[in-house]
Amino acid sequence: MERASVLVNVLSILPRMKATGRVVLGDNLTVLRSLPDASIRLVYIDPPFNTRAVRKRERIRVERDEAGDRTGFGGRRYRTRKEAGAAYSDRFDDYLTFLEERLVEVRRVLTEDGSLYFHIDYREAHRCKLLLDDIFGERSFLNEIIWAYDFGGRPRRRWAPKHDTIFWYCKTPGLQIFNRDEIDRIPYLAPGLVGEEKARRGKLPTDVWWNTIVPTSGKERTRYPTQKPLAIARRIVAASSYPGDLVADFFAGSGTTGVAAHELGRRFLLVDNNPEAIAVMKDRFAEIPGVEWEDLSAPPV
Ligand SMILES: C[S@@+](CC[C@H](N)C(=O)[O-])C[C@H]1O[C@@H](n2cnc3c(N)ncnc32)[C@H](O)[C@@H]1O
Repeated sequence: MERASVLVNVLSILPRMKATGRVVLGDNLTVLRSLPDASIRLVYIDPPFNTRAVRKRERIRVERDEAGDRTGFGGRRYRTRKEAGAAYSDRFDDYLTFLEERLVEVRRVLTEDGSLYFHIDYREAHRCKLLLDDIFGERSFLNEIIWAYDFGGRPRRRWAPKHDTIFWYCKTPGLQIFNRDEIDRIPYLAPGLVGEEKARRGKLPTDVWWNTIVPTSGKERTRYPTQKPLAIARRIVAASSYPGDLVADFFAGSGTTGVAAHELGRRFLLVDNNPEAIAVMKDRFAEIPGVEWEDLSAPPV
């Protein structure tokens, strides 16, 4: 059987997919075009932001060495060494056309009550919003969520940009899923003003989400650059899908969406064209039973 028809056969059974999740190495446009209409309830994507750089994460290794460059506890000497981590290119000749082709397909594969959460930063957010309005329709625009964090340096001559933007669009206006009662609650800014019971329950987040970046050394951190926090992915999955649903991420990176989906009892479809992302996901999902892996990157024989 030819590679293309294998793909169609495998992916066309996705709505009935029994596996916990499927991870595909390959170009997301090929995968998207092979998916049936209205087969996915929730899509989250966090495409490269077109920063025109190679995104990479260096790992610092620290080893005992009497001739090292650092002094630690008890006067012991250590040597630090930078190691290359995972990397991918974030440079596009025609970024909006790249996105447009994929977003048209994303809309097609969403169920009628399905949602897209589109994650971007200040460099391209304004252009992407216009593109999304064109493809989904202005009436399908629901929220511009601001994920605010506070980490890293500050420029001396302008405000430090410390937020990302997540646009939420539904396929059909009015049919979107918003599970208010499933969303994590956060503390009131002035709990003294709302009474004890309300203060104890906390409040529903607004469209501004304060959440730290993934700490550089912590249990959640993988070696993948631009990894997004699980707390953000969990909130989106909990709000706009149901247990048992299929949740997809076509720019999966380290697989954050898959982890959140699995934790909340959803199945996942993750796609990335970078073998290093797949290697990171293999480590991350080692404990999750029933994940299927597919490699569409090799040329057909
Ligand atoms: C910003 S990262 C995603 C990070 C992810 N949200 C996480 O939490 O780890 C974007 C990803 O898109 C992938 N990518 C870029 N172009 C792609 C394409 N055409 N098909 C599939 N994946 C692609 C890159 O390899 C990269 O891993």
